[in-house]
Amino acid sequence: MERHKTLGALLLLPALLALTPSGQGGSIPGAAGRHGPERAPSGMVVSEHWLASEAGRDVLAAGGNAVDAAIATGLALAVTHPAAGNIGGGGFMVIRFPNGTSTAIDFREKAPLAAHPEMWLDENGEYSSDVHHNSHRAVGVPGTVAGFEKAHRLYGSAAWVDLVEPSVVLAEEGFLVTEGLAEGLSYLVERKGSGYPATVAAFSKDGAPYQAGDLLRQPDLARTLGRIRDEGAAGFYHGETARLVAEEMRANGGLITEEDLDLYQARERTPVRGTYRGYEIVSMPPPSSGGVALVTMLNILEGYDVAAMGHNSAPYVHHLAEAMRRAFRDRATYLADQDFVDVPVHTLITKEHAGSLRETIDPARASTSAPSDLAQGYESPETTHYSVVDADGMAVSVTYTLEAGYGAGIVVPGAGFLLNNEMGDFNAGPGLTTDRGLIGTDPNLARPQQRMLSSMTPSIVAKDGELVAVVGSPGGRTIINTVLQVILNVVDFGMDIQEAVDAPRVHHQWLPDRIRIEEEGVEASTVAELEAMGHPVDMGGRQGLAHSIMIDPATGERLGAADPRNPDSGARGH
Ligand code: GLY
Repeated sequence: MERHKTLGALLLLPALLALTPSGQGGSIPGAAGRHGPERAPSGMVVSEHWLASEAGRDVLAAGGNAVDAAIATGLALAVTHPAAGNIGGGGFMVIRFPNGTSTAIDFREKAPLAAHPEMWLDENGEYSSDVHHNSHRAVGVPGTVAGFEKAHRLYGSAAWVDLVEPSVVLAEEGFLVTEGLAEGLSYLVERKGSGYPATVAAFSKDGAPYQAGDLLRQPDLARTLGRIRDEGAAGFYHGETARLVAEEMRANGGLITEEDLDLYQARERTPVRGTYRGYEIVSMPPPSSGGVALVTMLNILEGYDVAAMGHNSAPYVHHLAEAMRRAFRDRATYLADQDFVDVPVHTLITKEHAGSLRETIDPARASTSAPSDLAQGYESPETTHYSVVDADGMAVSVTYTLEAGYGAGIVVPGAGFLLNNEMGDFNAGPGLTTDRGLIGTDPNLARPQQRMLSSMTPSIVAKDGELVAVVGSPGGRTIINTVLQVILNVVDFGMDIQEAVDAPRVHHQWLPDRIRIEEEGVEASTVAELEAMGHPVDMGGRQGLAHSIMIDPATGERLGAADPRNPDSGARGH
């Protein structure tokens, strides 16, 4: 349970509360009163930081399309939201074009050439969670810059320099630190990254923590972004930036070399598609498990009148949990990088497969998760999601990540950006399955150039050929369940997009065999009913940050719903 324990401890840290970045705690924000959605006639960007949303909005207003705006937003988040916004990590972009076709860009990190399944075991065969998750060996070859460049080359319309320049300016001139960011950075420099001088130098004032209202300037990051602006992805994967990354690795037992950086390629993939009560769902295929699990759960739930059960009633939460339990078991059994493993995507997303899973659900009684042959702990709640729609109706859903909050906590000296710890999303080692949360099944073991399994679920919903909504969330494995519930809230419960985002959420991931419900998410009597059905229930915390967009069917307006669980987030339209 090392991993589990570590994450449990991290969850207590205010800095890592993607859940409550302001540190304010308290009740579910949506309960405090209406605060959105933001309405705009043409384009909308919703992200974790309003300055990044503004960077994307300005690109749209200048005539750029949704892909252009997504790139500008993502690069701006790399400056303003260092916990998860990144150029040192990776992620996924799902695009739906105005003609109804769609595609996906996979810029997930890859294992370096020197990686191998036993790379986190010592000479005695002892597994080290710390090396797996908190060391230079936890770093995957970053994909974000290659992904953005590929998306731009294939589908962008604005000049690349105009998409990168806003982030250069933000890094060079600085921006005001919020209360949430101050808490995060103090955790980074005093704890997680305290052993790395470049991290402390980049994110403190000569060792003293930033306070809310301080100006945060990042001159090394500005120079790196300047190279990306001037040279494209070559400004990251070759030359000065690549040299600085490889030097940091060589000096600290890391595996990434100049050759790994040179070899990195983003991939265009065919999205996973499903239907739910006449709505079309477009989401991310492997190496994400998100799209497959999302469609599986929707297919299972389509067989029930969930609206009649009542939102967050005991019968509803029970059926949600049972659908989640089954989809997450499939996830652990089959899902991994499809470039290395034969993943039966088409079977898993059929209505027939969901029907056979549904038949095993007792409407009144919790089933048990199988013995812990595939046990898994909870994952870090970090990562970040943003949504974009342009004037023509092109929609872009991006979820990208450093894995844990601030990734590995390692800033590349001289380059000013944080490295991911995404290798932690590979399984621990062959056969290393324990009932304490490790998993050792074969498909998702670390192999040279393989991409680690992800839960990120950037998704787009359409109906009758028209765009309905753009959704996604951070939150490790909770991501898939957060996205599921935003969609159910809209489709089954008729909520508007802000209500759908605000509503309290529920999580079950097969193992550990427990339902987690956001604090104040259900009545005490509902918990008692669920427990009587045989479900262990944990109440508390926050789940996800589902920055979403919906199209008003009556007016065509773009409705941007920033998730109030992070007060720094913002919806910006034009
Ligand atoms: N590191 C979080 C995910 O990829 O799901």
